[in-house]
Amino acid sequence: MIIPTSSQLRYLGKPASIDDMVGDDVESRVARPQDYDRIVAVIDDWWGRPVRASLPRLFLDHFWATSRVTDDEYGLAAFLVAFVSPSAPELAYLHFVGVRPDRRRSGLAESLYGEFLTYASSVGCRQARAVTASGNEGSIRFHQRLGFDVSAPMPNYNGVGRAMVTFARSLETMTRTASIGSARLPA
Ligand SMILES: CC(C)(COP(=O)(O)OP(=O)(O)OC[C@H]1O[C@@H](n2cnc3c(N)ncnc32)[C@H](O)[C@@H]1OP(=O)(O)O)[C@@H](O)C(=O)NCCC(=O)NCCS
Repeated sequence: MIIPTSSQLRYLGKPASIDDMVGDDVESRVARPQDYDRIVAVIDDWWGRPVRASLPRLFLDHFWATSRVTDDEYGLAAFLVAFVSPSAPELAYLHFVGVRPDRRRSGLAESLYGEFLTYASSVGCRQARAVTASGNEGSIRFHQRLGFDVSAPMPNYNGVGRAMVTFARSLETMTRTASIGSARLPA
């Protein structure tokens, strides 16, 4: 499965499907449980700090079917761990997205978000949510760009001393035939 570029992601008229995108030079596919080892091997390096504890194996064991992996000629290029909330099925939750440093700012994360949110919208999700460490400016700017509302830093969100910023974006405007193109447009 090939990932589209940002402009190609603005396609209209194709049925929403997590595996229904056509694009240029890098490949995206549904994750597999065994991708955990490849992902956990690089995330501390990609984040520039220890984050492994926030991605235990259970996420790939139990949410692989809604998670995505992108490969290129050098191996793992990007991944997204995401799921429809089992407790609140109207909510889509994006837990971890990472792009290899040399592939950043080429639309890979946006593409992965687009695939997942298009799918989530098609199965009835009405809102997407995510959180990030309050100092993660790149993540905050990325989510703002994709139309997410950004909270003020919430002290002690993940326990004492762990402030987080929360993101929320309505999926009401995403139809069964509209991709993340419509997610990227709102200011
Ligand atoms: C945040 C991250 C996933 C973005 O991935 P990416 O593939 O580079 O993002 P995209 O190319 O799809 O960016 C789409 C838009 O978001 C914005 N954006 C993305 N990264 C940005 C950054 N570091 N600073 C400012 N804006 C940024 C830009 O507007 C960008 O569009 P443009 O390049 O045309 O200006 C990537 O930087 C990363 O892996 N960071 C480390 C891990 C992390 O912090 N993950 C998020 C928390 S789970």
